[in-house]
Amino acid sequence: MEFSIKTLAPDRAKAGCLVLGVYAGGSLSRAAQLADRAAHGALRAALAQGDLSGKPGSTLLLRAVTGLAAQRVLLVGLGERKELSEPAFRDAVRGAANALRELGSKDAAVFLGEIEVGRRPHAWSVRQLVLGMREAFYRFDELKTQKKPPVPALAAATLAQTRGPVTMQAQAALKEAIATADGAALARTLGNLPPNLCTPSYLADQAKKLARQFKLGLQVLERRDMEKLGMGALLSVTRGSHQPPKLIVLRYQGAAKSKKPVVLVGKGITFDTGGISLKPAAEMDEMKYDMAGAASVLGALRALAGMKAPVNAIAVVPTCENMPGGGASRPGDVVKTLSGQTVEILNTDAEGRLILCDALTYTERMQPDVVIDVATLTGACVIALGHVATGMFANDEKLADEVRAAGDDAWDRVWQMPLWEDYQEQLRSNFADMANIGGRPAGSVTAACFLSRFTKKLRWAHLDIAGTAWKGGREKGSTARPVPLLVRFVLRHAGAK
Ligand code: BES
Ligand code: MN
Ligand code: ZN
Repeated sequence: MEFSIKTLAPDRAKAGCLVLGVYAGGSLSRAAQLADRAAHGALRAALAQGDLSGKPGSTLLLRAVTGLAAQRVLLVGLGERKELSEPAFRDAVRGAANALRELGSKDAAVFLGEIEVGRRPHAWSVRQLVLGMREAFYRFDELKTQKKPPVPALAAATLAQTRGPVTMQAQAALKEAIATADGAALARTLGNLPPNLCTPSYLADQAKKLARQFKLGLQVLERRDMEKLGMGALLSVTRGSHQPPKLIVLRYQGAAKSKKPVVLVGKGITFDTGGISLKPAAEMDEMKYDMAGAASVLGALRALAGMKAPVNAIAVVPTCENMPGGGASRPGDVVKTLSGQTVEILNTDAEGRLILCDALTYTERMQPDVVIDVATLTGACVIALGHVATGMFANDEKLADEVRAAGDDAWDRVWQMPLWEDYQEQLRSNFADMANIGGRPAGSVTAACFLSRFTKKLRWAHLDIAGTAWKGGREKGSTARPVPLLVRFVLRHAGAK
């Protein structure tokens, strides 16, 4: 889908479909007013029949409206005019995009970018429009033999405004949003791919493809390399699997070499059975998303490289499978991490922290400015925050504030949780420097506390995306979160607005 931004008179826009916003109670947005006037009140007349609820995202399609150059008009409910909220705007964008998908219109002039959403700048709405529309048009049907009849895809979407010049900020927001949507699509597909196809080697191949396409630096550490380095924790997790583990390091250099990189570490468990501490059967299939952290950091790098952002960023992906087997690690095993600290593995299902701790130690040699790890780390985080907020932990308050602000800006939000000293004692072990679990209370906090023992030399934040990286139910699938947050963070950290 090609996007552009233009100033257009709604009545003269020659598109397959005009998309116009309507507030609850039938009051028209500016663009809808202009179109209604040109159509001699046809829009108001249609609304008067009560066919549009006005709920955010509800839609009403009108055809062959005289006085308008466009073939169709799609009216989209926006909700209450006062305090139009971010979720209401997102619902409106999604509703409009879903309706456009069903229509099969080849092009559309979407007059939703001028709608005031709280105090959000125009650039915010542009980013939301592009990401929302691309998400609505995303399909994962590679593995279906009976594909749905191919919808004539919306080839061109014009983000239209009724007045004023198209600003540089709006154009920059468009470029950023398109690249972010490309990165999100990559993350989404990697998340959706089944675990028999999306293996650690597959992720390494994807990194290779990105490296070739965008001229990125790439290094892939193999099992031998990990052994030589002494990554005993990472190696312990992969022992039950027939798939070789990988540690992927993908570098994008868009700024001066001297500029310290932002390092993004993503958990890449391509399937988490729990290992010898086996998970129950119900919904175990969802553990294919246990590489969503990895997918998001690869997606973020693709986005940054795609928009040629003036930043230095590195994605680090420790990836393996957590399987039971004759060689698998046992509850009670003690392993030595790359940092030299020893860990008693009391539960083989707390494997994410074991691969992340060695990857985090490994980032020290990259002399990072800041490090952010992204992981589907704990079921406890889903209980605490549900599917709305990502759990955030940080050993640096300024970094925490920056991550929170980026999440708010991208509408891909986080909620900070404590990393207090007081929780550390839950990780006590009689047989090693620490245990890999801290009991049921505050499970996400003790998982983060475990990681904090490996990031003493770093400015570091940890994102627990167990609840936000995918949706269950009928809409089951990857959400591509937190790609929008990561991209916004890296850009803002480098000084972008
Ligand atoms: N990948 C899981 C966490 C998870 C659970 C993500 C549910 C998404 C949905 C992680 O490896 C895990 O199994 N964590 C355990 C930790 C426990 C053994 C301390 C958990 O959350 O139960
Ligand atoms: Mn697990
Ligand atoms: Zn896991």
